[in-house]
Amino acid sequence: MAGPRTSIHGEWSSKLAFVLAATGSAVGLGNIWKFPYVTGQNGGGAFVLIYVACVLIIGVPTMMAEVMLGRRGRQSPINTMRTLAAEEGRSPRWGWLGWMGVVAGFLILSFYSVIAGWALAYVFRTAAGLFDGATAEFTEQVFSNLITDPEKLIAWHTIFLIMTMIVVARGVAAGLETAVRFLMPGLFVLLLLLVGYAMAEGEFLQGVRFLFEPDFSKVTPQVILMAMGQAFFSLSLGMGAIMIYGSYLPHDASIARTSFAVAGSDTLVALIAGLAIFPIVFEFGLEPNAGPGLIFQTLPIAFGQMPGGAFFGTLFFVLLVFAAWTSAISLAEPAVAWLVENRGHTRVYAAVVCGSVTWLLGLGTVFSFNIWSDYRLFGKTFFDLLDYLTSNIMLPVGGFLIAIFAGWVMRERSVKEELQMDDSLGYRLWRFLVRYITPVGVALVFLNVIEVI
Ligand code: TRP
Repeated sequence: MAGPRTSIHGEWSSKLAFVLAATGSAVGLGNIWKFPYVTGQNGGGAFVLIYVACVLIIGVPTMMAEVMLGRRGRQSPINTMRTLAAEEGRSPRWGWLGWMGVVAGFLILSFYSVIAGWALAYVFRTAAGLFDGATAEFTEQVFSNLITDPEKLIAWHTIFLIMTMIVVARGVAAGLETAVRFLMPGLFVLLLLLVGYAMAEGEFLQGVRFLFEPDFSKVTPQVILMAMGQAFFSLSLGMGAIMIYGSYLPHDASIARTSFAVAGSDTLVALIAGLAIFPIVFEFGLEPNAGPGLIFQTLPIAFGQMPGGAFFGTLFFVLLVFAAWTSAISLAEPAVAWLVENRGHTRVYAAVVCGSVTWLLGLGTVFSFNIWSDYRLFGKTFFDLLDYLTSNIMLPVGGFLIAIFAGWVMRERSVKEELQMDDSLGYRLWRFLVRYITPVGVALVFLNVIEVI
């Protein structure tokens, strides 16, 4: 190889910019909307413990592998995998890994945009003071009025997707860095404020116990699969999003340290969101397993009761929309970069194409909450099925293959060169995790679930 490659799509301005962008990708609806409700549906403490274990022993090593592959390949995941495989004298079919990621990205973005649309809708509902003095029945009613109206959902889905594609069309580096630098800390502070409210007014201890007191009788293979899927989803792993962000990473940045920073902040935000939500759930007699509407039914009660709630509530939903926005961008980026590289399209054209496909797919999610809500496949609605297929199957399979590639297919010399690690303990630990623990862990979880079915 004639010196390190550079990316035709540009590079982050610094190592910090990468950490911010990757954190922007990781922290999103997955932490604040999904983590609380899947925790609620899967029994609490034990699920959380398994989730954190998955982040540490599968998530962090896989993230390092993804960033490493991205930075070495410097292209869209499809071309990166193909190029690296060729360099290692392996089959170009590794490019399929990139393709699977592109498909997963479309599928996830299609429902992600609909849910982000709910958050957008809530900005205006909160700002208008709708939730002043709200009760649990009232917030449940408001939520149900929203999701049973396809027109409203389509309108918000469309607006959010256009916002996303505008940023993607302009190139991810522009704007994203600044957005994340200010908005992420803002979101964090507001979450802490909510935890403060939950401590003062909610059933705080009950919430803490629910989140951190493991009841292992609730653990089934299905619960473990959900926890693993949630770890992949929340860390943005397994579909090439982190790989393509890694492809814009400057050469001198430490991949290990940046990956820890990203995974650490992502997990912290999820746990804090849980601490803010469950005390309110218990205080107002809501069901922890209420499903995807959980935060939309609980947080507005808190905003309705606290002084200045309309203000803080509006700010919260605005920041949630931004968090979702910086995540959504990374879901579209691998496909857009590929269209630019291989089809010679402009970013604008590529973004329009990807946006249109995603928009259409998103209608399936919209309808699954109203006119299609009675249709079930494998006992799941269209939205549930998409969510299950992507988080619990496609992302772990992607992570499995990434680990195999980084741990077994690539020559160790190439790996070490790119990671810029010598034979330290850290390096050997990473290599062990990526070669054995990640692939075996994912495979075991799958086998267990299949056996149960
Ligand atoms: N991690 C984001 C969240 O928690 C969602 C996301 C962005 C994602 N890019 C991804 C999930 C890539 C899986 C793969 O909201």
